[in-house]
Amino acid sequence: MKTPAQFAAELVRPEIRAINAYPVAPATGMIKLDAMENPFHLPDALRAELGRELAEVAINRYPDASGAAVKTALRAVLGIDERFSLILGNGSDELIQIVAVSLAKPGAAMLAVEPSFVMYRANAMLAQMRYVGVPLRPDFTLDTDLVLAAIAREAPALIFLAYPNNPTGNLFPLVDIERVVREAPGLVVIDEAYHPFAQVSFADRLAEFPNAIVMRTLSKLGLAGIRLGYAFGDPAWIAEFDKTRPPYNLNSLTQAVALIVLKHADVLAGQAATLRAERDALSDRLRRLPHMQVFPSAANFLLVRVPDANASFSRLQDAGILIKNLHGWHPLLSNCLRLSIGTPQENVALFGALQSM
Ligand SMILES: Cc1ncc(COP(=O)(O)O)c(C=O)c1O
Repeated sequence: MKTPAQFAAELVRPEIRAINAYPVAPATGMIKLDAMENPFHLPDALRAELGRELAEVAINRYPDASGAAVKTALRAVLGIDERFSLILGNGSDELIQIVAVSLAKPGAAMLAVEPSFVMYRANAMLAQMRYVGVPLRPDFTLDTDLVLAAIAREAPALIFLAYPNNPTGNLFPLVDIERVVREAPGLVVIDEAYHPFAQVSFADRLAEFPNAIVMRTLSKLGLAGIRLGYAFGDPAWIAEFDKTRPPYNLNSLTQAVALIVLKHADVLAGQAATLRAERDALSDRLRRLPHMQVFPSAANFLLVRVPDANASFSRLQDAGILIKNLHGWHPLLSNCLRLSIGTPQENVALFGALQSM
């Protein structure tokens, strides 16, 4: 009789057998600056309100499958144009998967710049799309001509552009994004996960382009734990993606938390403002350190280059600070570290540790 391992080896797709599960570093007891989370707690009164309200949620029932109330709240808080439809995902990670699966006709290609968010490429593989990675310039700016040449050559059905980009933190010029969308024969997803920190958006221009949608998330704003991403665009696109969305993908507790916290959106907006100020202050201070290259960031993290990223990462870890070591991720990221912006105290600790290296 075959063992389970033999069965799995025989039946699982080879490209899935070849990868590892998404790695999440243990962070217990550490200053956690590796995942671009909002480091602040919610105020006590709001936490108490959550406790009271969540106790009333009917968790014996399936959730509202459409997330209608959450969509209404998002529209109101974010001022989403009424011409656009919304789709909600279990994090924007799920929306990336939904869009990829929906467009993955045999032979279809997905294009993304590199380095960028790793889940684009991962989902191209899962959806069995051909993946086309176009390198950024060494300073991480967009080489628009190179992207346009790849578009002409590969005719991608799907393009992901993160605005601002992760892990580089920079915003590509809107005029360049516009050129990409105009030339693209397929759908361009403008991923605005870091919108609260960039405060600029493609949304105002979206109606001009039949082949673009905007995707965002509540994760970076302060609700990473509830897993709620959303995308909006022309109803013709969103209606198709809704067919690929697993039913009940947004659980009742997620929906309830979102509804309550969105009533207090000013709290999260205030925290984002603090993080923006902290980002700029930390960036200025780090820039003055010798041997430290700090790249411009419109997100809630900084990309820096140090002489020896592996050594810096280990020493920060020894000092109880967890960041992301990007060395080895992509040739352009050699000796790069990604530092999420923490509380003012955490940022002081991070600066102190980096200064003493
Ligand atoms: C550019 C970008 N898009 C999407 C995501 C995924 O966010 P979510 O937590 O909504 O799945 C991330 C997370 O780091 C990101 O950096």
